[in-house]
Amino acid sequence: MIWLLCHPVWAFSTALLALVVRLQRRGSWDPQACKVQLKGKTAIVTGANTGIGKFIALDFARRGARVILACRSQEKGTAALKEIREKTGNSDVHLRLVDLSSLDSVRKFAKGILEEEKALHILVNNAGVSGLPRQLTDDGFDVSFATNHLGPFLLTNLLLDLMKRSAPARIVTLSSVNHKKGEVDFSHFHGENLKYHMDTVYNNTKLHNVICTTELARRLQGTGVTANSVHPGIVMTEVMRHYPFTIRCLFNLIGFFFFKSPEEGAVSSIYCAVAEETEGITGKYFDSDCSLVLPAPLARDPALAVKDFEFCERLTSKL
Ligand SMILES: *[C@@H]1O[C@H](CO)[C@@H](O)[C@H](O)[C@H]1NC(C)=O
Repeated sequence: MIWLLCHPVWAFSTALLALVVRLQRRGSWDPQACKVQLKGKTAIVTGANTGIGKFIALDFARRGARVILACRSQEKGTAALKEIREKTGNSDVHLRLVDLSSLDSVRKFAKGILEEEKALHILVNNAGVSGLPRQLTDDGFDVSFATNHLGPFLLTNLLLDLMKRSAPARIVTLSSVNHKKGEVDFSHFHGENLKYHMDTVYNNTKLHNVICTTELARRLQGTGVTANSVHPGIVMTEVMRHYPFTIRCLFNLIGFFFFKSPEEGAVSSIYCAVAEETEGITGKYFDSDCSLVLPAPLARDPALAVKDFEFCERLTSKL
């Protein structure tokens, strides 16, 4: 059996098939063909120092936006800042530090934005982690829940008034097709009843992303601010960085043929954030090929959405 799998003919035909699959799977919407300009617009991209986030920021910078890279690491952020400025010739790109796993850090970041920015037209909640071991933050939350959901949730809420004043404005939250395997248990936020094997925690946080984005959109009706969530595709990014070496190697090998590059993974987010086709669309979930699809049934339950949103509001309020 093993011999069969290793046979050169088999390996060659698999590689060829994979290559064909890869070429066929090019996205339908092409950001380079989209001529929308963002001069005079301000955009924030979280986790913009690497992977998908960097390509999203790069695209906005090319369109002439004032882009704020919201990153955790000064060093990596500075490197991305330099690269984006050089590649686009846009000097109106800036770095601001934020650790989304810390509510204090998010509040400080938002305060800085509110004090110094006159407007905010695009917010892309891209930053996320997966495969982290059990660990609680200083606020007493599971670190993955804090980073992937509560941090971005609070950040979005703190910036809402500025976005409403800047309307039309768009909020894009990167979820994942993994949300379909997620479940809702409100004790999970505090790290209770969580199974820490493989991607259970990640899947759950991605479900909360979609649920709260849909509810946010409902609350924002009539304000000119839209909120949608997207699946970037299965992308080879540093989101895997916390997995064991062997798993990452395997992932990279398969990924070379079947997964999207971070640049391709940025397309559905850019589509939601800038395309004319998505103007005014809100409360929706987009697949990685930019098609509008239905999220999981749990993400379409309005009562659960209200409950989840209010729960997260309480968790992130200071009182
Ligand atoms: C998480 O979601 C992925 C993608 O849908 C799925 O393959 C995986 O089995 C899920 N993990 C768990 C533990 O549910």
